[in-house]
Amino acid sequence: MDNFTYFNPTKLIFGKDQVEQLKSEVPIYGQKVLLVYGGGSIKHNGLYDKVISELKAINCEIYELSGVEPNPRLSTAKRGIEICKNEEIDFLLAVGGGSVIDCTKLIAAGAKYEGDPWDIVTRKHIPSAALPFGTVLTLAATGSEMNAGSVITNWETNEKFSWGSPFVFPKFSILDPVHTFTVPKDQTIYGIVDMMSHVFEQYFHHTTNTPLQDRLCESVLKTVIETAPRLLEDLKSYELRETILYCGTIALNGSLQVGARGDWASHNIEHAVSAVYDIPHAGGLAILFPNWMKHTLGENISRFKQLAVNVFNVKEEGKEDREVALEGIERLRSFWNSIDAPNSLNDYNIGDEKLELIADKAMTNGEFGNFKKLNKEDVLAILHASL
Ligand code: NZQ
Ligand code: ZN
Repeated sequence: MDNFTYFNPTKLIFGKDQVEQLKSEVPIYGQKVLLVYGGGSIKHNGLYDKVISELKAINCEIYELSGVEPNPRLSTAKRGIEICKNEEIDFLLAVGGGSVIDCTKLIAAGAKYEGDPWDIVTRKHIPSAALPFGTVLTLAATGSEMNAGSVITNWETNEKFSWGSPFVFPKFSILDPVHTFTVPKDQTIYGIVDMMSHVFEQYFHHTTNTPLQDRLCESVLKTVIETAPRLLEDLKSYELRETILYCGTIALNGSLQVGARGDWASHNIEHAVSAVYDIPHAGGLAILFPNWMKHTLGENISRFKQLAVNVFNVKEEGKEDREVALEGIERLRSFWNSIDAPNSLNDYNIGDEKLELIADKAMTNGEFGNFKKLNKEDVLAILHASL
């Protein structure tokens, strides 16, 4: 294991009717609240009314920023920052999925910065403060509810970058599985692919002696694989939503990645794809990740073999290690096909016209990937294999 420090200050409030805890959590931070939400799902499923009534019960002065888009945009965060500055907002409350939370993180940091918030995303400005914020999560996927990362798209430059700061951990996150009942089937599938991909990113590393981290990763993957098909047949099952919701948080709250440096190349390539084509993040991952695995396998067989045997139950007897490893990758592909995740860029009508541009976007900060360093030729090979 590498030396590590693990720090995660987010208070996780999990379970049925826990939204009531807004009444005790929000007043700790102030009274003027900016409510941030997306395109309207919370109005359709009644969560908006519940949140408003909790906030009114403690006499909050409520301001609103609605319409945060999937793949949240810099322009929307700027609108939120303006409200915070003009109205002297005390506290932000994000009610939604990863996009709403990520946008809220940039608003929180941007409200304490006089320059262009894109400086924060591009790491030209390192935040030294942020407004406090909490979240009410409505979609199991990103882990943003319990981490300090955020992904923002700038449509003027077609760039989508992740950034992070210890100042943008949510103060609390409320996770009630009931709030995820209305997540449609396609978004539920994307969430499943995203959380599995987060585990893969952390599982592929070269550090030795990480048996507990490996088993924790494998457990999350096995739990998701076991639960997902049942959930997709029964989208309003409390138990199955509950299991997937907790898996999504554990997959990216930092606890799996302690003591080793994960890869994160597939996420980087996907962010470049969705910066050019605005496709759902996990739709891109479902297409790219198995191709990253095949491209990377080369001399790195042992981790892939371990995944194949421990997670996908591939039998080793009478087979070469490489064959076992490849079978594991094929089983992942089949699993994602079986839950109707996309499997080629063609599923989004993406041809080879802009692959060069995507590869250039992915290479913005030079070679990347901690498990295997990728250059532009590698990225193009993965993209071509994904057509
Ligand atoms: O906008 P509304 O109307 O709320 O609808 C959303 C949106 O259309 C809908 N939805 C959410 N909860 C719902 C619901 N519909 C019905 N019922 C509910 N309960 O789902 C759609 C997608 O929402 P979004 O927030 O975009 O999805 P997700 O949580 O997957 O977030 C994706 C974003 O997170 C970034 C991605 O790049 C992408 O921009 N990521 C953030 C990470 C992080 N902060 O740690 C890590 C991830 O790897 C990822 O990159
Ligand atoms: Zn992701």
